[in-house]
Amino acid sequence: MNDNTRNQPMPKENMLNITIEKLLRQAVETLQIPDITSPEAGHLLKSERTREYNHGDISSNVAMRLAKNARQNPKQLAATIIDQLPDNEFIERVEIAGPGFINFFFRKEWLAKIVYKMASEERANISKADTPMRVVVDYSAPNVAKEMHVGHIRSTIIGDTMARTLEFLGHTVIRANHIGDWGTQFGMLIAHLEEVQSMSGEPENRQLKDLEIFYREAKRRYDTDETFSEQARNYVVRLQGGDEWCLSQWETLVDITMSQNQLSYDRLGVSLSRKDTMGESLYNHMLPMVVDDLVQKGIANSDQGAVVVFLDKYKTKDGAPMGVIVQKKDGAFLYTTTDIACVKYRYDKLHAERIIYCIDSRQAQHLDQAWTI
Ligand code: ARG
Repeated sequence: MNDNTRNQPMPKENMLNITIEKLLRQAVETLQIPDITSPEAGHLLKSERTREYNHGDISSNVAMRLAKNARQNPKQLAATIIDQLPDNEFIERVEIAGPGFINFFFRKEWLAKIVYKMASEERANISKADTPMRVVVDYSAPNVAKEMHVGHIRSTIIGDTMARTLEFLGHTVIRANHIGDWGTQFGMLIAHLEEVQSMSGEPENRQLKDLEIFYREAKRRYDTDETFSEQARNYVVRLQGGDEWCLSQWETLVDITMSQNQLSYDRLGVSLSRKDTMGESLYNHMLPMVVDDLVQKGIANSDQGAVVVFLDKYKTKDGAPMGVIVQKKDGAFLYTTTDIACVKYRYDKLHAERIIYCIDSRQAQHLDQAWTI
């Protein structure tokens, strides 16, 4: 049934408060206290959820509010109101507390019935948002050729929960898995992959089963073998220049990593899939333009060969504005540059109205700098 005014089993919000306030209204109306029957008097009946179990479920201070008009002391009035409460199926007992609070204890059976109703209803009695929005949720974001660690799992679970909740509320959710799939480390990873491939006739996925070992080994070779590290640097340049072989090796690394991560997502019941992958490489083509734009607008300046933005918001130890590098002396862009491009992409191209980042708080300053810029 589409008509939500019918067949609605329960009022939509604060149903416990509403239930009590209705009862109180009926009780108070029998007392003929001046002014109480006017519609504006509704706020006098407002009740609250209690903070402690021994104060019951809902508490009302209506007796204290009406005492003056009723010319009774609050405790007396509370007793009178309780006497006038209509018969009902939901209240187990009522107590007067402190200067005249009325505390209501619900019948467990009645509460159980409500919970059961919610559980058996598809939408659990939760209505959709009045203004649906386009929301990007940035989460999971593992790095290529590395295992996910606990921080990625945390982001994955929290992010997926948010994505599902927002969707349930009627928002359009764009899942953005901002994987670390770009950067100078790919030179050494490609060089190592090449070696692994030539050493054994085996398919790469066998060799790359343990990504952690693969990455560590690549790093070790890079740090200890001159020829290897030179080859790695050469591959970085070729990869950035769009060399086809390097790109296909890079793709292999991304593929293997993401198929392994997909196993974890599926096992965890996380709703991410390959189509949600929007890694750092996606913003690569925007980076020169982003830096140019910052320079044009006078936001970024050349500083000892690098391009730097000085932010008043962040100070160095001696109180000077802190410099955030957006392009290094050698022309390389940084994690911050990528996140600046990324936020631009999300607003301009994805038309996001809200973006949620599920990221380790240790990256809070990094993100804040990117957003500020
Ligand atoms: N890949 C990064 C890491 O593992 C997290 C990326 C988070 N998202 C972002 N837009 N920076 O630390």
